[in-house]
Amino acid sequence: MAVVRWQWWRWAYCATAVILAVAAEPGEGVVGMNWGTMMSHPMLPADVVKMLKANGIKKVKLFDADEWTVSSLAGTGIEVMLAIPNDQLSRMGDIDHARDWVKHNVSRYLSPGGVNIKYVAVGNEPFLKSYNGSYLKTTVPALKNVQKALDEEGKGVKATVPLNADVYDSPADNPVPSAGSFRADIRHLMQQIVDFLHASGAPFLVNIYPFLSLYANQNFPFDFAFFGAGGRSIADKGLQYSNVFDANFDTLLWSLKKAGAGDLKVIVGEVGWPTDGDKSASPALAERFYGGLVKKLAAEEGTPLRPGKMEVYIFSLIDEDLKSIAPGGFERHWGILRYDGKPKFRLDLAGKGGGTARWVAGVAGVQYLPAQWCVFDKAAKKEDLPLLEGNVDYACSHGDCTSLGYGSSCGALDAAGNVSYAFNMYFQMQDQDIRACDFQGLAKITDKNASRGTCLFPIQIVSAAAAGGAALFSALLSAAAAVLALL
Ligand SMILES: *[C@@H]1O[C@H](CO)[C@@H](O)[C@H](O)[C@H]1NC(C)=O
Ligand SMILES: *[C@@H]1O[C@H](CO)[C@@H](O)[C@H](O)[C@H]1NC(C)=O
Ligand SMILES: *[C@@H]1O[C@H](CO)[C@@H](O)[C@H](O)[C@H]1NC(C)=O
Ligand SMILES: *[C@@H]1O[C@H](CO)[C@@H](O)[C@H](O)[C@H]1NC(C)=O
Repeated sequence: MAVVRWQWWRWAYCATAVILAVAAEPGEGVVGMNWGTMMSHPMLPADVVKMLKANGIKKVKLFDADEWTVSSLAGTGIEVMLAIPNDQLSRMGDIDHARDWVKHNVSRYLSPGGVNIKYVAVGNEPFLKSYNGSYLKTTVPALKNVQKALDEEGKGVKATVPLNADVYDSPADNPVPSAGSFRADIRHLMQQIVDFLHASGAPFLVNIYPFLSLYANQNFPFDFAFFGAGGRSIADKGLQYSNVFDANFDTLLWSLKKAGAGDLKVIVGEVGWPTDGDKSASPALAERFYGGLVKKLAAEEGTPLRPGKMEVYIFSLIDEDLKSIAPGGFERHWGILRYDGKPKFRLDLAGKGGGTARWVAGVAGVQYLPAQWCVFDKAAKKEDLPLLEGNVDYACSHGDCTSLGYGSSCGALDAAGNVSYAFNMYFQMQDQDIRACDFQGLAKITDKNASRGTCLFPIQIVSAAAAGGAALFSALLSAAAAVLALL
């Protein structure tokens, strides 16, 4: 009897082990990704796509319709949102141009085995106050023409406009979601957009940045920028708000309601947390923010006003060292991956932890330039030192010095360290060309790792743009050889 019982126990044990092994499959990612390409040294799109698949990413949002990027998504099934940049909006006012754009950048990918294009983003935050109204007249006509051209293709692709959360607000004396409405100066345009999206069955696309709430306001309650921290909570019409993301999203829902479209589908086109370039930007805070966000999305919690599943795109996938830093030094550090495709912190993209966790995986197969750095030459002549300032300015205006700022990862370097950092960033940006490490005799190349503490002196990667050029060149050469062989 005892033997039989022991066998039963064994069986149960084995069965449990099998169930555990099945349950240990990583879950699907619960977020989409913004894939921006404003970097000096892009990785191969095919390698990035492999990484997306390894991470269980099902949706990607692009900022243009670059052929190399778009075609790398063919056959993957990944849902794609393409985009028309703001400077093309006025062109799209002409229906023939809109048709050309759709033919060239959408239709030809839609065959079976092609690219799973679902949306076209018309412009990017065209009503931002800092654009001084430049796109007020051109956005709505562009949206209408692009949707018309898409409808003519008959594949169900929808056009929408990514808008910044500054298109709506609540009065300063009553800052609750239910007091929200579209900004007075653009309310007539927002009404046209909302009516059009409603009629065409397209979603409203909004970018929400708790980081920017914190950045813009020294008195902003810190924990309110994150999720599930307890801390402060605001009450509004019987609902409780414990984080600014929910409060912001529901302010939009109230604004839509007042515009007669309270049931419009809303997609969060961008949300994220930068890791450098500001005192509130760090891998630790980004890990806290994303960890809370992804957990919330996996639980299909939604917001107080609209519980349930949400569609959200993280901004962003990879750091972009060519982005304008007019909004702040953090602009070049939004990636959950570094410039070389390495994860910056731990993040479970499936959001449920435990056995189904899907920890962010980096890009494989990235190649680096040689391990050498350009640094300040301490043997430089004293009489040359006054030249330092001009050389550092030059290096920083052509390279990326945003990590040197106050509270940033290299903010604690001494003066010589600052100079070395600037020189190295320029040298790496120039693909380690030895002429890029002269700086009027103030610099030298070293193979001794110049990194210090939290401050990484990076080695740049082999740019796929250059590698792609070389591949094209060798393809042309072999084509020429084939022609010669025929003669
Ligand atoms: C297609 O998109 C690309 C990249 O965004 C753009 O440069 C090009 O002008 C577009 N093609 C047409 C025909 O508009
Ligand atoms: C908007 O106007 C301000 C002040 O007049 C100016 O500094 C800025 O360059 C303008 N921006 C754009 C995008 O035109
Ligand atoms: C290093 O550079 C940063 C950014 O330019 C500056 O704020 C800081 O004062 C510099 N530190 C020293 C010791 O020169
Ligand atoms: C240089 O050192 C830093 C910090 O210790 C390290 O992260 C980095 O990988 C090193 N770089 C190389 C090329 O060895």
